[in-house]
Amino acid sequence: MALVHVPLWAVCMLRVALATVYFQEEFLDGEHWRNRWVQSTNDSKIGHFRLSSGKFYGHKEKDKGLQTTQNGRFYAISARFKPFSNKGKTLVIQYTVKHEQKMDCGGGYIKLFPADVDQKNLNGKSQYYIMFGPDICGFDIRKVHVILHFKNQYHSNKKSIRCKVDGFTHLYALILRPDLTYEVKIDGQSIESGGIEYDWNLTSLKKMEKTSAESKDWEQVEDGKSQDWEKHFLDASASKPSDWNSELDGDWQAPMLQKPPYQDGLKPEGIDKDIWLHQKMKNTNYLTEYDLSEFENIGAIGLELWQVRSGTIFDNFLITDDEEYAENFGKATWGETKGPEREMDAIQAKEEVKKAREEDEQDLLMGRFGGQENIFQRFHKRDEL
Ligand SMILES: *[C@@H]1O[C@H](CO)[C@@H](O)[C@H](O)[C@H]1NC(C)=O
Ligand SMILES: *[C@@H]1O[C@H](CO)[C@@H](O)[C@H](O)[C@H]1NC(C)=O
Repeated sequence: MALVHVPLWAVCMLRVALATVYFQEEFLDGEHWRNRWVQSTNDSKIGHFRLSSGKFYGHKEKDKGLQTTQNGRFYAISARFKPFSNKGKTLVIQYTVKHEQKMDCGGGYIKLFPADVDQKNLNGKSQYYIMFGPDICGFDIRKVHVILHFKNQYHSNKKSIRCKVDGFTHLYALILRPDLTYEVKIDGQSIESGGIEYDWNLTSLKKMEKTSAESKDWEQVEDGKSQDWEKHFLDASASKPSDWNSELDGDWQAPMLQKPPYQDGLKPEGIDKDIWLHQKMKNTNYLTEYDLSEFENIGAIGLELWQVRSGTIFDNFLITDDEEYAENFGKATWGETKGPEREMDAIQAKEEVKKAREEDEQDLLMGRFGGQENIFQRFHKRDEL
């Protein structure tokens, strides 16, 4: 057999095309998920999950996911992966959620935790980086949360994003990009997008920081005390004199100029105050602190939520740096089973209608042939309502 020689460039190209998948969970290996997911024991009343594809599904095995099983409970479960930072990279968080119980009040969101999260003690106070996904309570709360942890505070998105409220499986995806833009997709459709800085309540925070930076440093500059601005700088407009002899005179350098004094809100060389501040903040760690959607040590994903009526199924978790990979994964999972799921639901609904009609007919027959008593009871019941 001949050895196939793969040129190095081909290997490199292949590498470029590879997505980094930090976490992927489809629950395709039966009860082994229990080795990967840790149930919190912080409270003995924390609800239990089971593996189930529910009452109706597109594929009995592929649609199996974590289902909440007890009404009126808190749930707290999480899974670890190799810790990573999304600094300078895209972050995609994606999963499917199905409220087949016709959700009245309860969470359907996920949380991304730092690697040092205490899984055994996971609870509502466990600090998280990101909370993402639908939350339903009555008619008032029907939204998709996108909460980012920044400077010891949780910040909600200002734009309200409506979630799906029906009983079918839906695909939720959050994309945070290194250019500080974001996108929320439901069922593969872009529902909301924009700039993180603007769509979160962070502009006021930034202004606050800016004001303090301004009052401290800009004054110094104005006073002419700042070292940086006192430096001489090269006269860029100067050109090498025609009679310059490099061999005799050495390498030519533009003459140094003294900066003119500060005037009217402009920096000596005409830099706008805002631009100066921006650069100033970039150089100090102000801006790293403004990297609102960068998290150093992402290491666990969890379901930490409350449900009044249980039955929600979570499945097809994915955390990756590649939007295209996420899209394809969504198509290969939810995309394949959503159609058959609706078909099964339609068949079941038809059967239920048929059954109800048969029961009604049965009741009528009983009424007719079993004497007046039954009919009387029916009326009686109705009165009670
Ligand atoms: C639950 O977690 C909190 C905070 O992590 C901790 O203080 C408390 O002792 C835990 N309770 C139990 C029963 O482990
Ligand atoms: C936004 O921030 C301001 C100032 O910090 C605060 O007063 C306001 O309640 C916040 N709004 C929201 C929607 O969080």
